[in-house]
Amino acid sequence: MSQGLVLAIETSCDETAAAVVADGKHVLSSVVSSQVDIHARYGGVVPEVASRAHVDLITPVIAQALIEAGIEHHDLDLVAATRGPGLIGSLLVGVSAAKSLALVWNKPFIGVNHLEGHLYSSFLEEPNLELPMIILLVSGGHTMLVSMDEHLTYRVLGQTLDDAAGEAYDKVARYLGLGYPGGPIIDRLATSGQSEISFPRPMIGEGYDFSFSGLKTAVINYVRKNPDELDENIAASFQEAVVEVLVTKTIRAAKDENAVSVCIGGGVAANSRLREAILDACPKEGLKPFIPSRSYCTDNAAMIGAAAWRRFHHDGPSDLATGADPNLRIPE
Ligand code: KG4
Ligand code: ZN
Repeated sequence: MSQGLVLAIETSCDETAAAVVADGKHVLSSVVSSQVDIHARYGGVVPEVASRAHVDLITPVIAQALIEAGIEHHDLDLVAATRGPGLIGSLLVGVSAAKSLALVWNKPFIGVNHLEGHLYSSFLEEPNLELPMIILLVSGGHTMLVSMDEHLTYRVLGQTLDDAAGEAYDKVARYLGLGYPGGPIIDRLATSGQSEISFPRPMIGEGYDFSFSGLKTAVINYVRKNPDELDENIAASFQEAVVEVLVTKTIRAAKDENAVSVCIGGGVAANSRLREAILDACPKEGLKPFIPSRSYCTDNAAMIGAAAWRRFHHDGPSDLATGADPNLRIPE
């Protein structure tokens, strides 16, 4: 009997990932090969280097996902890959691999929206989350507030007008000479700092859109004027400003939209302070929070498997002529 076995592939940025997911919720394997060490010396992801690394890594990563899941390719019901948004050269590697395997193995193929994957990551661990739900999606490339009214039905309530939250973390860390990626480093430093520097909370009272570029500039100007300030205090104060804006807007959106649940997703959802603040704020407003494991917040293929299975049931397979789309948006 079919268990709805999906092989999912994710190569939208700098993680080469493959997973086997049953019924869109049981993760049988989730392999993530990070290219972080390759890109760290350049201070950020170099697209051409990323595509070449995906080419080298994709076959062993897929093989490992099948072995860890303990299945053979003929057990699969669907082959899925992220088709966008992301870096075109990186996306092409995953999409081409998935389409080739689907063709050779005679299985259906589906192209998945990376953002829909992040929106579905919470359902891997809590398949019965109650809707309507507000999801704060915060990554290196995106910062958005999304209302999921029913499954696969979204409204984007707001997004960043300039830098994504993760991008702001990475740029502040780069300015301070802390390394790449900056999010986890600032998160760690902040735990031993004081959040006493008062940085701006951009657009905190206005609508659901975000803007982090001015905050990043305020931090850089402060560091120029106060070269002896401890990195720990700058990290803690910057992080407090980012988290306060993210949480205030998320809670306001959830109340305005009469949501039942609140979830977070994307790499910045791995942030300790953000996780703590969401868990603290939601119950006070009668909202049910869900915080996915860190490994399902940062880019992974298990979340692509979860979204793929839902989409497949709703829309059927994608045509093999479906290509990568670096500018794909959340379907509204
Ligand atoms: O979702 P993701 O893995 O890739 C994209 O789709 O962008 O997110 C990567 C971003 C990076 O900007 C990284 O600095 C940030 O997530 N990030 C964090 C943390 N871990 C990763 N930001 C803040 N705190 C963290 N612990
Ligand atoms: Zn992502």
